[in-house]
Amino acid sequence: MWAIRAQQTDGISDMVQLRKYLGLALASIIVLLVVIQIIPYGRNHTNPPVRMEPAWPSQEVRNLAVRACYACHSNETTWPWYSNIAPASWLIQRDVDEGRRELNYSEWDRPQKEARESAKTVREGEMPQWYYVLLHPSANLSSTERASLIQGFETMFGAGER
Ligand code: HEC
Repeated sequence: MWAIRAQQTDGISDMVQLRKYLGLALASIIVLLVVIQIIPYGRNHTNPPVRMEPAWPSQEVRNLAVRACYACHSNETTWPWYSNIAPASWLIQRDVDEGRRELNYSEWDRPQKEARESAKTVREGEMPQWYYVLLHPSANLSSTERASLIQGFETMFGAGER
């Protein structure tokens, strides 16, 4: 009888201990999230000027590229509110910097050697990335739209390698 009661008490104090630890862990995470906001990387969202665009075969094809590709491959990035909050801001900045470096439809006055891969990346479902589509439903092209975009890219830059 006493033994059982003692055991029960222990169980309860274990719970209290556990809740204390969980509370502490949660508080630490919150403090960490606040502190990392001080790091300036990923906060500068001034888009460089649009210098020159490729000769899009139609406004429709351009619109599709704007919806699916321009966030990372142009100087007309629209920055969502969470692009101001670390660590999301860091990941987004990295994607945009790297995307623009690889291929930038706003800087057609410099060589864009990856352009000819445009059609292929869409055909193979590599671009836009699945996580981008998940967060941006407007980038989720229908199969007809995808076909138009691929066709447009092929008209401009060829079918790509492979
Ligand atoms: C969320 C950002 C993002 C979006 C949206 C996006 N890209 Fe990319 N893209 C990247 C990044 C980052 C790279 C370089 C690293 C890599 O290859 O994953 C890249 C690389 C590329 C390359 C170079 C070849 C290759 O496979 O690495 C091509 C071509 C390309 N993208 C085309 C497109 C096209 C076409 C669209 C729209 C249909 C698009 N991308 C949408 C971020 C993006």
